Amino acid sequence: MATTDSMTADQLRDSFTGFFADKGHTVVPSASLIPHDPSVMFNVAGMVPFKSYFTGDEQAPYNRAVASQKCARAGGKHNDLDDVGRTKRHLVFFEMLGNFSFGDYFKEKAIPWSWELVTGDPASGGWGFDGDRIWVTVHESDDEAEAIWHESVGVPMDRIQRLGDKDNYWQMGDTGPCGPCSELHIDRGPEFGPDGGPLGDPFGDRFMEFWNLVFMQFNQAKDGTRTPLPRPSIDTGAGLERILALKQGVDSVWETDLMQPLIDVAQSLTGKKYLVGDYEDPNSFGLRVLAEHARSSSMLVNDGVFPSNEARGYVLRRIIRRAVRFAYMLGTESLVMPRLTETAIGVMGNAYPDLVKNQDFITSVITREEESFRQTLKNGLSILDTALEDDPSSLSGSTTFLLHDTYGFPLELTQEIASERDVAVDLDGFNVAMDEQRTRAKAAAKGSVDDASLGRYREIVDQFGVTEFVGYTEESAEARVLAVYETDDGGAEVFLDRTPFYAESGGQIGDTGTIVTETGTAEVLDTTYAIPNLRRHTVRITDGTITSGQSATATIDHERREKIRRNHTGTHLLHHALREVLGEHVKQAGSWVGPDRLRFDFSHYEAVTPEQIAEIERLANAQTLNSQPTRIFETTKDEAESLGAIAFFGDKYGDIVRVLEAGDTIELCGGTHVAATGDIGMVKVVSEASIGSNLRRIEAFTGEGSVALLQRDEALIGDVATLVGAQSDDVVGGVQRKLDEIKSLQAEIKTLRAQLAMGRATELAAIANDGVVVTQVDQLDPGELRDLAIAVRQQPTVQTVVLVGETPSGGVALVAAVPKDAQQPASVLLKDAARAVGGGGGGKGDIATAGGKDPSGIQEALQIAAQAVGQFS
Ligand code: ALA
Repeated sequence: MATTDSMTADQLRDSFTGFFADKGHTVVPSASLIPHDPSVMFNVAGMVPFKSYFTGDEQAPYNRAVASQKCARAGGKHNDLDDVGRTKRHLVFFEMLGNFSFGDYFKEKAIPWSWELVTGDPASGGWGFDGDRIWVTVHESDDEAEAIWHESVGVPMDRIQRLGDKDNYWQMGDTGPCGPCSELHIDRGPEFGPDGGPLGDPFGDRFMEFWNLVFMQFNQAKDGTRTPLPRPSIDTGAGLERILALKQGVDSVWETDLMQPLIDVAQSLTGKKYLVGDYEDPNSFGLRVLAEHARSSSMLVNDGVFPSNEARGYVLRRIIRRAVRFAYMLGTESLVMPRLTETAIGVMGNAYPDLVKNQDFITSVITREEESFRQTLKNGLSILDTALEDDPSSLSGSTTFLLHDTYGFPLELTQEIASERDVAVDLDGFNVAMDEQRTRAKAAAKGSVDDASLGRYREIVDQFGVTEFVGYTEESAEARVLAVYETDDGGAEVFLDRTPFYAESGGQIGDTGTIVTETGTAEVLDTTYAIPNLRRHTVRITDGTITSGQSATATIDHERREKIRRNHTGTHLLHHALREVLGEHVKQAGSWVGPDRLRFDFSHYEAVTPEQIAEIERLANAQTLNSQPTRIFETTKDEAESLGAIAFFGDKYGDIVRVLEAGDTIELCGGTHVAATGDIGMVKVVSEASIGSNLRRIEAFTGEGSVALLQRDEALIGDVATLVGAQSDDVVGGVQRKLDEIKSLQAEIKTLRAQLAMGRATELAAIANDGVVVTQVDQLDPGELRDLAIAVRQQPTVQTVVLVGETPSGGVALVAAVPKDAQQPASVLLKDAARAVGGGGGGKGDIATAGGKDPSGIQEALQIAAQAVGQFS
């Protein structure tokens, strides 16, 4: 059902934001698809970026807002990935138009406004839908909403339906803001399904839902309890693509100006035809998947998600692989994602100009993933082929499982290929293998916990509380020994009430040092967390005994900690420099900070060039040279965020966070740091490598480490200079001169050898017996021996030559040269002889060569060859 006044996606966005801006709403640009809020994997709805305004954790800077928010539903509670392609409206990526009230207006305004926009005159910015075709649903308990729809707006009661929690209660996730909601549906006509309103249309094809008004009233906690929000609020969400389909009068989201260009390109890449409205046709299904996944993966990469095996990256990987799998099933052999990605960027670039800026980057990330998955598919297929060759009657459960588990072949793909070849898949066998794997995984997860020691650790915390850490400011502290446990390897674990020892965390290695009591000394080899907040000193008792209850002096190794501090603050400077040089997509994926070196893992899609490394080093060292005091302070997470602090995704932070400011960097960090950036000394990168797809690792030195490195390199250069007889500053020239010298010496040797060979050829010709020379010549390499044999044969008195000898490398070389017009090839002279020296060889013409390993057989080989010459014709 078209309205007469079609709109483009860009116009639709503007009409929505314009309408609500006129009603006092602040227009807020879309936030990234990666939410700040860790309770959801992606922005699953327009309200996610505003969550803390609803809960009251943060004061909203405006009471009313309107936005078109980028959303992705491919993980957790809101997951549409597997439905994409099967329906008229499910997408992983979509845009949600929404108006929001943070404790300002409530239902009494939200409901009439939605009606005003939807049915309003297009000439004055409305959407012009026929009000008689609109149905609304409200929560079964919501008399108030029903009354507003009926009495204020005038919707007849027979087009208002009440539904339960499943349809008309909205939650952001397992936790977070929630409340009853009311949805607007449009009746698309009898050709789309039976009458009866949304209640009787479970698939929503006829009565298509297009706008959800949520009356936010509660905040749901982990245990499911709901507490009222400080003030009732409004969150609405209207699917841009769905409304576009309605406005453009097309069958579904797939035929809108956002998706059709992608479907077109998918058709031309695969040569398959798209059938509008056909949800049975497998080709059309595949084309829709290609279109959607190209667009959603482009949007995700643009917001900094990379294909990987963790969390969000894994979801992105699944999306791209699903697309590639369909491309494969549609019969493509070459890459499809580059053109699809390009098209997606073309379609979306107007609304999101950064897509165009990042085009090369986005395309290269997605293309790489396609390349690698196509390879995987190929490998899997050859496994499948082999299995079917061995047993053409059926495909075993174990092969199907192997394909699934190791080669990422979804069961359907294996089934599809098997059915093309009229082979059945052993599904029961596959399910058994899957179950076995699940059991193994469960057992492995259980086995890793040592219940007995856990109990002991918990007891310490129950009795004495958690360990007080004084090591940010103290290097030595008086403490009480709470417990000492001997370990199987003859050492012990010591627990103190307070300690200056930093326990390994956040990538920083644990401290070492000593614990001394009246009766004994322990050398602390490592410090780690036994359980959260309980610091464990792993020790070797070097003198006497240490018992619980004693007073102790705990002292860390000062020198070592100093080095760790330098490396840790240095890591922050490097992180910052990496982002400056390579781009904001660089995200920390892990780090390790020890006394001797630091390691930093980060997301990036290609090798860092030597020039980039040099620039990174230059930037990091500019910070150390311009030495500034570092600042460490505690604050709320929100405050830290507003200061622009970078948090390491994957680390858990409490509400109060510790922030380190060092030079230009500001990051959340619980580690130990230098007092001023100048204390770090020089930052020197020593290696850069790949550690996985789109993951790089750099290693670097600071302080004394860098000095030692320079000294080592300088000594090395000095040694080389001495060896080549040059000054240190001319070492390259010196080495070059030596290389030139070697070259000319080699040329000279060659000439001399040739002369020598000619001389030898004459000598050997002198021993010719009846035109035949069979003799031993050592210390020539196979090529030289061959040249000599030819030279001997050239002598007037000679016709046939066999030379055998030990080569300079300890092997055996054999050569035979016979008259050019001989009836048989020269190789017949060597065939048996070569065996005597443990080898073989051949050749067809008048020169044959062979090789062997055993010089002790040379005499025998000569005899055999001599006999063969006797029989040679
Ligand atoms: N947050 C609501 C939804 O996503 C509007 O449907």
